[in-house]
Amino acid sequence: MKKRYLLLLLSVFGISASAQKSIDQRVSELLSKMTLEEKVGQLVQYSGFEYATGPQNSNSATVLDEIKKGKVGSMLNVMGAEETRSFQKLALQSRLKIPLLFGQDVIHGYRTTFPVNLGQAASWDLGLIEKSERIAATEASAYGIHWTFAPMVDIARDPRWGRVMEGSGEDTYLGTQIGVARIKGFQGKGLGSLDAVMACAKHFAAYGAAVGGRDYNSVDMSLRQLNETYLPPFKAVAEAGAATFMNSFNDINGIPATANKYILRNLLKDQWNYKGFVVSDWGSIGEMIAHGYAKDKTEAAEKAILAGSDMDMESHVYMTELPKLVKEGKVDVKFIDDAARRILTKKFEMGLFDDPFRFSNEKRQKEQLNNQENRKFGREFGSKSMVLLKNQNNILPLSKSTKTIALIGPFGKETTANHGFWSVAFKDDNQRIITQFDGIKNQLDKHSTLLYAKGCNADDQDRSMFAEAVETAKKADVVIMTLGEGHAMSGEAKSRSNLHFSGVQEELLKEIAKTGKPIVLMVNAGRPLVFDWAADNIPAIVYTWWLGTEAGNSIADVLFGTVNPAGKLPMTFPRTEGQIPVYYNHYNTGRPAKNPTDRNYVSAYIDLDNTPKFPFGYGLSYTQFKYSDMTLNSSDLKGNQTLNISVNLSNTGSYDGEEVVQLYIRDLFGKVVRPVKELKGFQKIFLKKGESRNINFKLTPEDLKFFDDELNYDWESGEFDIMIGTNSQDVQTKRINWVK
Ligand code: GLC
Repeated sequence: MKKRYLLLLLSVFGISASAQKSIDQRVSELLSKMTLEEKVGQLVQYSGFEYATGPQNSNSATVLDEIKKGKVGSMLNVMGAEETRSFQKLALQSRLKIPLLFGQDVIHGYRTTFPVNLGQAASWDLGLIEKSERIAATEASAYGIHWTFAPMVDIARDPRWGRVMEGSGEDTYLGTQIGVARIKGFQGKGLGSLDAVMACAKHFAAYGAAVGGRDYNSVDMSLRQLNETYLPPFKAVAEAGAATFMNSFNDINGIPATANKYILRNLLKDQWNYKGFVVSDWGSIGEMIAHGYAKDKTEAAEKAILAGSDMDMESHVYMTELPKLVKEGKVDVKFIDDAARRILTKKFEMGLFDDPFRFSNEKRQKEQLNNQENRKFGREFGSKSMVLLKNQNNILPLSKSTKTIALIGPFGKETTANHGFWSVAFKDDNQRIITQFDGIKNQLDKHSTLLYAKGCNADDQDRSMFAEAVETAKKADVVIMTLGEGHAMSGEAKSRSNLHFSGVQEELLKEIAKTGKPIVLMVNAGRPLVFDWAADNIPAIVYTWWLGTEAGNSIADVLFGTVNPAGKLPMTFPRTEGQIPVYYNHYNTGRPAKNPTDRNYVSAYIDLDNTPKFPFGYGLSYTQFKYSDMTLNSSDLKGNQTLNISVNLSNTGSYDGEEVVQLYIRDLFGKVVRPVKELKGFQKIFLKKGESRNINFKLTPEDLKFFDDELNYDWESGEFDIMIGTNSQDVQTKRINWVK
């Protein structure tokens, strides 16, 4: 009896003791049992074979064999409860049965897709953004995914770069707020929750500053600019608990990000004390040979691991080179141990050692497919991401009893396109998309008619459909044109030198305009486009980005006024490509133009107005908002006081609506030149028609800090302009003095 009692006690304490053992202790114990090859194996990631998101050169049989031998730590692009389960079973055949991590690009939704991320940023709605990632994480984790390669927090000022579609635009403050909201959404109640996925802050760093907006191109800037503009979103998401980082393809000041000790070791892992792990972007370790920074795979592996790249995505370099480098004494095993520890820690935190199959659950997966709640949210998020750029004579909103409407353009009956770039390729998704045509038709009264003509293709010189489109327009009371760029014309490796509507779309628009019919133009895009003629000649324009599964319903909700649009541009829209880069928070220069047409020895183009087509933060509403009575608690502040700013906002129009009230500052003089404006706050306010409310902001010296030429981060005494308004140009200003 005594022995049995003792055994029972031991088993209870034994279990509770192991449960009490910290993850750190469990990782140390595991590491102590691992061979060098098994440790390096944890640093290896391959893509699945059905669906590659980069130039793939892995042989499936070899990969499966290496998984069984414990030489693979993670797979990407393996999706679904069944497939992840089968891969996990292979991993559990290895000597130490270390489970795999499954990663995927869950960028703007999963089975329910949401607006492309630049469109989401146009909502300026942190709550909606966080909720969209919460839903995406719930759907993805139900499909066996542990880890999303998101949020992309690259600040980008150049719309020629196709990847602006997956970011939050040009502003550091807005991009930082949105990045943190995404981390909260993805990781939810914390790693280990069944509906949480590991986030991945990418692409570290400054990928959006590629010269010429050409993807994968070099980045060269002062460390001051790097710290002032491009790094703050990364630091904020690291502090918000981002589980992982992904480095970028570009070199920064001559050193590829993949082996850039300054950002990976000095900043991220030392100064920021980051405990997660860094995965290389697809093949970027091996690409250091092409960069001319490593003479071969061996040197590439050595430089990357020493700099702080922990996991090798699809370079096939770490597995072949690191054991050799350690045995030759060129790489201390402590670097391998550190990387393996970081990766194993995440696997423990995700509960994968307790149950490697906990996320591969067919029942949960089934529940998540076509989830009506998620679709309802997607419909709302889509309409809240749209930006009303023009509405002359209040053509919009349209009446649902309009007798005949013509929808004309290449995107009206598109299905897949509405997903935008970076939507996971599930074969049956197209049947679930609400097309623009169906969305509009579903809301029209039964006595109304919706005509459709494609008019042209998205990107060729075929004009053969023009005549039919013109005839269709002539039969209508109002024409809705749906133009822009194809969904796969923005995204990775999609830089464009010409940002006009592709193909013959603008010619078609001009032909339809000749009919004299009232026209509403919808612009579908993943980036700012250049459409000067349309902006000057078409009375109503709505930027619809690519809105995801519920696109057609979101669009109809706005066109018919069920939803009053409130989107604001997260990027400046240039008048022409030659004006790029053009962004709101620029420096003043010694010869600023005095007005848009000033050409007299000033910093301006002789052939173009010195203003953007549409400014950062711009967006209209079906109602009108009036700003008045801007007041400050003081215009002379000292030290750590707080500046209280108040403005009265009135809805003076005839629709209830939302307004994004924006707060900017200007530091008039500094140790280094300062931007003419900096966004320091925003509030999205709903007002019923006729309603007024005081909107209040606070600023402290923390909001005035900047990096000087010696990388000191501090503020200085001096004069500041405080500005509040509806966009970055249309503001009310008050000047203050603030001394330290
Ligand atoms: C791609 C992208 C990166 C993505 C990764 C995995 O090349 O640059 O954003 O997460 O590979 O698909």
